Amino acid sequence: MGRVMYICLCRGLTEADIEAAGRAGHTTADDLIAVLGLDHPRCCGRCQRDIDDFVDLAERAARPVTTPLVQA
Ligand code: FES
Repeated sequence: MGRVMYICLCRGLTEADIEAAGRAGHTTADDLIAVLGLDHPRCCGRCQRDIDDFVDLAERAARPVTTPLVQA
């Protein structure tokens, strides 16, 4: 099993959690803060300040995967 990299220690969130939120349609800053619980009083606030990184990750995960055209 691979190592898990936590990107939010307060909430125990990994990149996979942010990507899953994005695939579920949560791609705005306010939506991600709410659905991931980043506004919890016990959070340090770092992830709310850096929410743009979470938005980028969620948006990338929400985009459909496209396969490049292969020319014969
Ligand atoms: S590390 Fe994410 S809110 Fe503290």
